[in-house]
Amino acid sequence: MINQLKELVSKKSVSGNERVVASYIKEQILPYADKVYEDALGNLIAVRRGEGPKVMVMAHMDEIGLVATFADDKGFIRVSAVGGVHPQKTAGRPVIFENGVMGVFVAGKEQKMSDCYIDIGAKDQRDALSRIEIGMTASFVTETFETGEKIVSGALDNRIGCFCLIEALKRLKNCSCEFYAVFTVQEEVGLRGAKVSGFEIAPEVALAVDVTLSGDHPEGADTSASLGKGCAIKMRDRSAICSREVVEDLENLAARKGIPIQRDVLSSGGTDIGSVQLLGKGVQVGGLSIPIRYCHSAIEMADRKDVEATIALLLAYLEK
Ligand code: CO
Ligand code: ZN
Repeated sequence: MINQLKELVSKKSVSGNERVVASYIKEQILPYADKVYEDALGNLIAVRRGEGPKVMVMAHMDEIGLVATFADDKGFIRVSAVGGVHPQKTAGRPVIFENGVMGVFVAGKEQKMSDCYIDIGAKDQRDALSRIEIGMTASFVTETFETGEKIVSGALDNRIGCFCLIEALKRLKNCSCEFYAVFTVQEEVGLRGAKVSGFEIAPEVALAVDVTLSGDHPEGADTSASLGKGCAIKMRDRSAICSREVVEDLENLAARKGIPIQRDVLSSGGTDIGSVQLLGKGVQVGGLSIPIRYCHSAIEMADRKDVEATIALLLAYLEK
């Protein structure tokens, strides 16, 4: 698990710039799909043929980051946020631009994005612009390691979901549905990739495999989700209220198979199903969430048992 995750995280993919991670995932899944293709936005879609309804399972490939807006006279790179970046959670971290140039992300006194900058050690504006281009994205440099039962890494949101979906494709034996595994783009900037992919596939059921906030630590969210208690079945978040039938199906399956689960009720945030539920005549939706600590910081934490439970439940759902 940790080695594959390291590979996934090392391919940087700030929203709109997911190509590198997409081509890595494509290589991994090609032997396990009947068809693999990409659409105009860059969503990566793998199809496993089977009798039964169309089931779409999404995991977003993109991560939060920064984009260079201009270089000031002294050569500091001014930036804006791509997705939910909070200076107080990410200040002081090393960052890396698409072309490999590294720097330090510095938050201004009031920690407003407009005061933040990246210091690449440039002499002046000209020097800065000879090394990076306006519009280039930068991502947080991070470590990936295990401690106890826990996995620690940047961009667990949502490479850990991508990992689960890749594993499901690899381990799936008898698919009882027409299975569309979709690795989506631009989730962090408003669930954009999912919208066109959902329209194209027009599934009967759509699921999202994504992270959720945990409430089990001093800085935790107001939620019951905890690390180590199993796959968190999404009930609702700001983007969608999940379909009763899907939630019940997932909970019954988990009970039958002895897979540990908990519930995910989130008063903030959203995920890809929010863009798919309201397409066409409507789509039944649900979510398998992996609770993480320190979400949208440069270093997040998950529990391997929750990851395994999520893969097991996804497989049970696709095989039922
Ligand atoms: Co996110
Ligand atoms: Zn996410």
